[in-house]
Amino acid sequence: MAERKRYEELKKQLEQLSYEYYVADNPTAPDSLYDQLLHELIGLEEKHPDWITPDSPSQRVGGEVLAGFQKVAHETPMLSLGNAFNEGDLADFDRRVRDKVGDDVAYMCELKIDGLAVSLQYEVGKYKRGATRGDGTVGEDITSNLRTIRSIPMNLQEPFTIEVRGEAFMPKQSFQNLNIKREEEGLEVFANPRNAAAGSLRQLDTKIAASRNLDIFLYAVADFGEMGVATHSEGLARLEKLGLKVNKERRLCNSLEEIYAYIEEWTAGRQDLAYDIDGIVIKVDSLEQQATLGFTAKSPRWSIAYKFPAEEVATKLLDIELNIGRTGVVTPTAVLEPVRVAGTTVGRASLHNEDLIHERDIRIGDTVLIKKAGDIIPEVIRVVEEDRTEAQQPYQMPTHCPTCESELVRLEGEVALRCINPKCPAQLKEGLIHFVSRTAMNIDGLGEKVVVQLFEQKLITDVADLFFLSGEKLVELERMGEKSVQNLLASIDKSRSNSLERLLFGLGIRHVGAKAAKVLAQHFETMDALRKADQEALIEVPDIGEKMADSIVAYFENEEVHDLLAKLEKAGVNMIYTGPKLEAIPEEALVFAGQKIVLTGKLEHMKREDAKALIESLGGNVTGSVSKNTAVVVAGSDAGSKLAKAEELGIPVWSEQKLMEYLPNEGGQNK
Ligand code: IVH
Repeated sequence: MAERKRYEELKKQLEQLSYEYYVADNPTAPDSLYDQLLHELIGLEEKHPDWITPDSPSQRVGGEVLAGFQKVAHETPMLSLGNAFNEGDLADFDRRVRDKVGDDVAYMCELKIDGLAVSLQYEVGKYKRGATRGDGTVGEDITSNLRTIRSIPMNLQEPFTIEVRGEAFMPKQSFQNLNIKREEEGLEVFANPRNAAAGSLRQLDTKIAASRNLDIFLYAVADFGEMGVATHSEGLARLEKLGLKVNKERRLCNSLEEIYAYIEEWTAGRQDLAYDIDGIVIKVDSLEQQATLGFTAKSPRWSIAYKFPAEEVATKLLDIELNIGRTGVVTPTAVLEPVRVAGTTVGRASLHNEDLIHERDIRIGDTVLIKKAGDIIPEVIRVVEEDRTEAQQPYQMPTHCPTCESELVRLEGEVALRCINPKCPAQLKEGLIHFVSRTAMNIDGLGEKVVVQLFEQKLITDVADLFFLSGEKLVELERMGEKSVQNLLASIDKSRSNSLERLLFGLGIRHVGAKAAKVLAQHFETMDALRKADQEALIEVPDIGEKMADSIVAYFENEEVHDLLAKLEKAGVNMIYTGPKLEAIPEEALVFAGQKIVLTGKLEHMKREDAKALIESLGGNVTGSVSKNTAVVVAGSDAGSKLAKAEELGIPVWSEQKLMEYLPNEGGQNK
């Protein structure tokens, strides 16, 4: 049938044009021809809907709306790489390799694309499934969203059944255009192309992903051996032949010097690329040597990622602002002339304490150098002295709280200044934010912004007021529709029946963290029993020391605390422990019992302090540095040297997702 023949022809021709445009970067026809042929193809599909298959060029534009993402188990785990930060680390890597496989070794150097790792499965040459890396073992099925990336062929040049892996990313230009558009529409802008790419691929509406102009580079096959090649470089050339997009800037290097030269070239050249890279990946080229080298628990021993050094940028220090925390600690914050550093715009950076300001002699009006510690947290490294004039005078720390004007004190042995006025509005506000947070009362829908509004409009002055809020008042708040109000009231109501430890932790008694709150709640079972406990009774409880005991006694002696508890009781807030009885707590509920845990990298779903509290509630102690005594490293994205160290020492690494599986259920029990 002529129509059918034409249809198949159109499909082939459109695929070829797509390949030339998006993969080979060498278009041979004007865009208008593509549009015209696509139009014809869609016409035929409208007439014969039963002809449409998922590999049709018409299916690239999205349209499907998913209910959620299915989990996908990776048959061959998607590992990550160990990191190198300098020539010394690379030389160590090279030595380890040579010790194992001898001196005849070649390395493939590739750009480390800053996007997200994905896996593409082809069956007999047809695109069947695409997935995210997830935690390396289980990812999410994003087949439909990846189909919208034009550089992913729906059909390979040969009927191979393979799983290829690569990095999906958003080119810099697409990122810029997207943010301009979002700004115009009043939407929040994405911090960097990587977040934008990840956000796009996690859209349930595939049309959105299709509109985001994502791209991909493939850099591996789950098992290159299956392709009958002897080296990684041959493997990549085969992938190119199959019609897959492989980055052209790769280079085979025969010595460390050649590797250093490649790194140097791209450290300078990265600005001119159309996409972000965050380092260089170095891989032993011979597959046989790769097999000899093998893997550690998390990464191959035949490859390493060199990470570019943290970018240092100069900007003006406009002001030093004081922030008052929940416990009254005063943190000076640098207000900076906004500047882009390592992919995000930075306008503020913590100066930590008064001593640091004086040590680095930081003055308002100075030009300062900033970088992102661990590529995440902005930090003022030093002042650019040459730019200093007489106008910049040494910084004088205020003597009074900028919020309540009471005198600030420096407690013995502390570097921090504190506002010790318990009624200081800044502290109350932070206390409220803590009270509703996930690890405390876990009131869904009550984010920081809403709490601040409630507080500033005097709808709440203490935590108990939350339970007396009415719907009429709430709808008046910014961005609060009726539905959100209903949901919020429902979650406030639900939190009334939380087990005691959540309330205890939420009240913010000094020194009582999530873990101590749990121990206390289990031991005393009711708020009443706890408030009657004296110092002696308290220190008998495991894990409760003198300092904490004193603080608890002092807290419950306070008249205002009596009033607050009475008000909470009146509001129907539960004050009884409803978790498992002390004897009955299964061992596995305290997965980290007595162990040292290190948190590193950027967490996507939890605040750092919440993750810390969660680890403590699981019996662990969060420590700062990785050593052989560390039991587990919990690594978010962009984890740096701590993750590298963990890998080197063979310490188990958990993803944020894995930690989140241990978030308490409603009753405050662990899974
Ligand atoms: S090879 C066994 N090559 O960097 C690991 N990775 O931790 C194979 N990446 O998760 C990774 N560009 O998402 C490799 N040319 C490249 C890469 C690359 C970016 C990402 C990848 C991986 C992370 C390394």
